[in-house]
Amino acid sequence: MQEVTVAKVGEIKQGGRKIVNVAGNIIAVFNIADKYYAIENVCPHQAGPVGEGEIRDGDNVVCPLHEWMFNIKTGASPEFPGISVKTFPVKVEGGEVKVVID
Ligand code: FES
Repeated sequence: MQEVTVAKVGEIKQGGRKIVNVAGNIIAVFNIADKYYAIENVCPHQAGPVGEGEIRDGDNVVCPLHEWMFNIKTGASPEFPGISVKTFPVKVEGGEVKVVID
């Protein structure tokens, strides 16, 4: 397991996101109400860049390819039970936002 710094606190504005490459994983890191969440930027449908989609209802992101929606906090699809995008734990330490990778 490793923790990788992906941003400084304040760099990702509330409601914003940053796409990062962490050890070969393309990850979208979101700031939702000043808490940080990370999902793999690979849609479980057809591998679209789900983390780059529109944020809807506060904490869902809509894949730009075919509009499947996923909860940014849990990774779960509100529409398709059992389908989810991979999530990663996020820590804030020393003014840095860190993603935890297996
Ligand atoms: S690839 Fe994301 S909805 Fe189809």
